[in-house]
Amino acid sequence: MSVNHDELLRKVNPIYFSAKGCLILLAETGDADLVNFCNEIDKEQLTAATTAQAPQITRGRIISLDVRYNMWNVLAEETDCQTIVDLPCGYLPHSLVAARLKKNYYGFDLPIVIDEISAVASKFMTDREKNFVHYHGVDATNYFSMRNALRGVEGKICIITDGLLGYFNRNDLKAVCENVHRLLREFGGCWYTSDSQFTDLMAITYAALSGGGREEMLAANDSGRKQIADSEDENIFSTGTLEERRRFMEACGFSVKSFRYPEKLRVIPSLKDEPALMNKILSAYGEIEEWVLTAEEINSAEKIDLPFAQKFSVSDDVLSVQLRGRLDTITAPKLLQEYEACREKFSFAEIKIDAAELSYVSYGGLRVLKIMCDDLEDSSRFKILNAGKEVRKFLSADFPDAIKKG
Ligand SMILES: C[S@@+](CC[C@H](N)C(=O)[O-])C[C@H]1O[C@@H](n2cnc3c(N)ncnc32)[C@H](O)[C@@H]1O
Repeated sequence: MSVNHDELLRKVNPIYFSAKGCLILLAETGDADLVNFCNEIDKEQLTAATTAQAPQITRGRIISLDVRYNMWNVLAEETDCQTIVDLPCGYLPHSLVAARLKKNYYGFDLPIVIDEISAVASKFMTDREKNFVHYHGVDATNYFSMRNALRGVEGKICIITDGLLGYFNRNDLKAVCENVHRLLREFGGCWYTSDSQFTDLMAITYAALSGGGREEMLAANDSGRKQIADSEDENIFSTGTLEERRRFMEACGFSVKSFRYPEKLRVIPSLKDEPALMNKILSAYGEIEEWVLTAEEINSAEKIDLPFAQKFSVSDDVLSVQLRGRLDTITAPKLLQEYEACREKFSFAEIKIDAAELSYVSYGGLRVLKIMCDDLEDSSRFKILNAGKEVRKFLSADFPDAIKKG
């Protein structure tokens, strides 16, 4: 095989770099857990997330990350749920915080993040704390990846999402919300998210710090997000208003309640030596909403995807690949791996993908299809056959001719 496991995961979804940037900035607050984790992660391949920025922008970013980090910790302590799902956990040490509270912690993120963070976290936990901590590689757009990870969990769950919703395209955002809704219907509990207004939080912090307007921070944030976001196809959490986001969640079947930051957060640890500034920023946060969502009953029948499967065959100079189920961040590395192995053994000038049983393609899947297409000397010989309406709609922008040939 010509690509190793890490390389596969990186090719399929590069956005996880953003989370390392968050940890590195947060470690500047001096918090011992954050510093410990930061010292252990591999920083070699950091790119967009750590692009140099004006010092006040960086400081604003650190303070707002500190606020969100500590809000997560407050919510974990306050919730009456015994199980907390950190979606996505990135590289932050929330697992230690939850374990010290003696609550079950489920850290969910892409497999490449989980491989690294679970090893780092275990260095800083006692054996007793380890019993509370469970890390799982998932794709939030893939319901079964999260449901399987929660096997054996009893009672209500509290899902906390900080820094996820704005990165997806519309399709994937809807899938994630449907999946969380389904988990909450099964387990009960609630979903907290600071993604309702996380760019506003940064902008307000920056304005309070610099005495200037919010636009500079919003522009810096937007350019950073565009470098790492999944696609140009932006969603309501990156571009919409607070009201539009709320309506979107309600349309997904959630009941949305909100509270203001100062109601739950009384101190910002990184500003504890500057009380005047801290109070100024906290009072400016009076306009920022954090959401708590609960799932309302829905009547429509659940759409069940077939399990992922792939079948390869080569005849003459044509590679035929039959795909079934969901091609997403979890399954796309399997396609890439088998494709790479096939390419080493055989030579072919044409690729035919039979998409008749393919129910869903995410950007992770799209990337692998593009890799396969780009490998061909004549890319017009890449063909996607029999795709259903949804898959065809999603792929037609990138593969207009390949899809037509189907
Ligand atoms: C901005 S970071 C936030 C992480 C963490 N909550 C924090 O505050 O540092 C975004 C995270 O989303 C994860 N992510 C992206 N797509 C995902 C998906 N489809 N399923 C699960 N996690 C995903 C990335 O790997 C990354 O760790």
